[in-house]
Amino acid sequence: MKLWALLWRVDLTEKFVLQKFLCTFLQCSREELRTNTDQELSDEIIQKVLAAYKSYVEDKKPLEYILGHVDFFWKEFFVNEATLIPRPETEYMITATTEYINWKLKIENWKLGENLLLDIWTGCGVLWISVLLQNPTYFSHAIFSDYFADALEIAKRNYQKLITDFSWKVDFFQSDLLDFLVRWISELPDGTTVIVANLPYIPEETFEANVSDNVKKREPKPAFVGWDDGLDYYKIMLDQIIWLHPKNLVMFLEMMTWQVDVLRQLYDDKFIFEEVKTFHFNIRIVKAWLK
Ligand SMILES: C[S@@+](CC[C@H](N)C(=O)[O-])C[C@H]1O[C@@H](n2cnc3c(N)ncnc32)[C@H](O)[C@@H]1O
Repeated sequence: MKLWALLWRVDLTEKFVLQKFLCTFLQCSREELRTNTDQELSDEIIQKVLAAYKSYVEDKKPLEYILGHVDFFWKEFFVNEATLIPRPETEYMITATTEYINWKLKIENWKLGENLLLDIWTGCGVLWISVLLQNPTYFSHAIFSDYFADALEIAKRNYQKLITDFSWKVDFFQSDLLDFLVRWISELPDGTTVIVANLPYIPEETFEANVSDNVKKREPKPAFVGWDDGLDYYKIMLDQIIWLHPKNLVMFLEMMTWQVDVLRQLYDDKFIFEEVKTFHFNIRIVKAWLK
């Protein structure tokens, strides 16, 4: 069968998705697909494309899980059912962190390479990998963690794929929040410690009432839900920070707009919370540091 014959089959109505599968299985760009519609497709490719299309249309499997990858901050990351599919709003955390680093370099002439990056509950690893790629000289050491071994495996694969020519020290831990830091606290570098964390922050009720059945069925609930007010995990992490009291710490966190005020009231004497990026009325990237 010619490519054009498959591409224009009237029963395959999701043309964008069809093109995505063809590009992935033929390993070509959309432009190459468009200019080579006369090419003959092998039976194997046709079966692969049709199976993927069925999985998307009939089984409602997210496109990113079928493709096995997602685009985030101009890079392609592996994802699978063990990890959350990173959302576009989270890209603002990379911009916010990079702006902070640039400011720090300019204002304080901070020494390069003495700084530590921590990604707490990394999922497929988009946060720390993107921050490192955007700021290749600022950090000497990066640590990423997740509670789930399957998620850590994907983060490690992304690390091996995307971080090839740099010489940062990298460690990873299967850990609940900052538990791993107890062992590290005396070894923190003299420079800044930057935490990036997109902890699960959706209140359980909101998740049950508002999140689509598709997401509920297909993506891991623990990656979304932060229980009653959605802030259980953030509160535990902030309490750990108060207890560990690391020096020169700054955090970049993602949460819902009203949750920032809840944290401000609860931790009034301990932390400063500054809203640095807005995705839409409902979601904020928050910069926080110890008073
Ligand atoms: C919202 S996802 C964020 C993933 C990634 N950083 C991103 O922004 O796309 C939260 C992560 O928390 C992890 N997680 C969920 N429940 C957890 C728990 N009880 N303990 C530790 N990690 C957990 C999940 O594996 C998931 O990777």
